[in-house]
Amino acid sequence: MFDFTPSTSASTEDRYRELCDAAAALIAGEPDPIANMANCAALIWAFVPDLNWAGFYRAMGDELVLGPFIGRPACIRIAMGSGVCGAAAQSGKIQRVDDVRAFAGHIACDPASRSELVVPVIRNGTVGAVLDLDSPLPARFTDADAQGLAMLAERIAPAILA
Ligand code: SME
Repeated sequence: MFDFTPSTSASTEDRYRELCDAAAALIAGEPDPIANMANCAALIWAFVPDLNWAGFYRAMGDELVLGPFIGRPACIRIAMGSGVCGAAAQSGKIQRVDDVRAFAGHIACDPASRSELVVPVIRNGTVGAVLDLDSPLPARFTDADAQGLAMLAERIAPAILA
């Protein structure tokens, strides 16, 4: 089986490069988008510290529908444009929220969440899913996290969007 243990001494940037390589190895040759999303959520959980939720919402018509994730059970459907996830899906832009309590319309699935990073997953110019990370720490996510996860989203887009 694979050994996907992150190296402890790596910089944040190197950590995300390792994460991307591990994801590429896991999805190689596997056509099932759900299986690939599930493994990517597990990898993010292993590589990115201080999370309480990590997973996907899939764009389906005018709403987002919960996909594979790790964390507490979450809201199943989010209207396009609603909450942090809906804002990312509608705009196609990364949403990095230092304090979720200060984000108008934030949808609190886990009351422990204090900061959030949502990265759109885009294929052929269309947002097909969003990658959502929550942390119990305020201002947990930096630009380096946003860039690292954007790199991951680009890499895995063909493998998770049918
Ligand atoms: N907080 C998100 C909802 C999803 S949960 O965090 C898993 C939002 O505001 O869209």
